[in-house]
Amino acid sequence: MSDKMIAEVYQWEKTMELNNNEVFYVLQKSLHYSGIETPFEFAVIRDGKVQDGTFKKSDKNDFLKSNYMVQLFPDNIIQQNLILSVIFPERTNYVLGSMAWLLSGSLLFSFIILATFAMSLFFIIRQKKISEMKSDFLNNMTHEFKTPIATISLAADTITNPKVINDETSIRHFIGMIKKENSRMNKKVETILQIASLDKKEIDFKFENVSMHSIIERSVETIEIQVHQKNVKITLNLRAPEPVIYGDYEHLTNLVNNLLDNGIKYSPGAPEITVETKNNEKGIILSVEDKGIGMTKNVQSKIFERFYRQSRGNVHDVKGFGLGLNYVRAIIDAHKGNVTVTSEPGKGSRFDIFLPYNWEN
Ligand SMILES: Nc1ncnc2c1ncn2[C@@H]1O[C@H](COP(=O)(O)OP(=O)(O)OP(=O)(O)O)[C@@H](O)[C@H]1O
Ligand SMILES: [Mg+2]
Repeated sequence: MSDKMIAEVYQWEKTMELNNNEVFYVLQKSLHYSGIETPFEFAVIRDGKVQDGTFKKSDKNDFLKSNYMVQLFPDNIIQQNLILSVIFPERTNYVLGSMAWLLSGSLLFSFIILATFAMSLFFIIRQKKISEMKSDFLNNMTHEFKTPIATISLAADTITNPKVINDETSIRHFIGMIKKENSRMNKKVETILQIASLDKKEIDFKFENVSMHSIIERSVETIEIQVHQKNVKITLNLRAPEPVIYGDYEHLTNLVNNLLDNGIKYSPGAPEITVETKNNEKGIILSVEDKGIGMTKNVQSKIFERFYRQSRGNVHDVKGFGLGLNYVRAIIDAHKGNVTVTSEPGKGSRFDIFLPYNWEN
């Protein structure tokens, strides 16, 4: 009796053949029901061997390693060894695809945050630099004007002194002093105003044919008068056969003045300056060389920036606004020329300025 029952159950379970189409349909329906729309393949594994299924993209062995396996007919009494294994060949793409918006959104958002951060950092650093430059400039300006103001005040006080007021030579001497200091202040104010007008691009140029040699000679003369107490030696090697260019006399004189002024200012002891000219096929090359303190490469890269001065630990032994070379570069640009610096700390500096014969051509 029991043998018969077992045989019947066995027979009944055996008739429960699996139909591929049916399995596919059932799987599709339940996956759809769970919201999973990616293509799938499945196989039936019996006793550890793949028996039946759809094998379009996946290898038979892949089904043995699938993460999605479930035992079929767990209530069967005899045939308990059937496993349904499912593979989603496009699973990665599907998962990524369904997260695409989220991923790209968060990527974009992170990028925006990073960019904003970088930008704020950039602006903060720039702002800090500008404010440092501004306070440096104000410091320098106060120092620059303090000396002439003090001298003028002292001279005026001395003149009113009863002992001096009747002595004409002394009065002349002190008035000369006042005038000299006054013109010094005037020159400083002019430099600042010039830079301000450069800013608004309204600097006045009067272009004409000018000889660089006469410009250099005039500059050297004025500089020598200004620094008569300092032991300055200026050597001129004006060798350019063709010194005439189309340029602005006043501005080019200021340019040479600024270079000579720097050469003298940044040479401790007795400054030795050499001014040279030569021609190339397009124009004139003017070189101003000194044997002064020189500059590192880092300093060289910044000297043409407005207000830049090499920091010497807040000691104002050498006065200046950091405007001279900025002005020099603006004038060179207006003449379509260029400037190069060669310098070594402790050995000296050399500025080579090329100016074309005629920048209009
Ligand atoms: N010949 C030089 N030798 C060494 N350093 C120099 C020389 N010329 C310029 N420098 C450096 O470049 C900086 C900028 O020069 P720049 O002429 O623009 O300003 P400044 O001389 O300080 O002030 P000013 O506005 O009065 O000319 C100087 O502070 C100095 O550090
Ligand atoms: Mg200068």
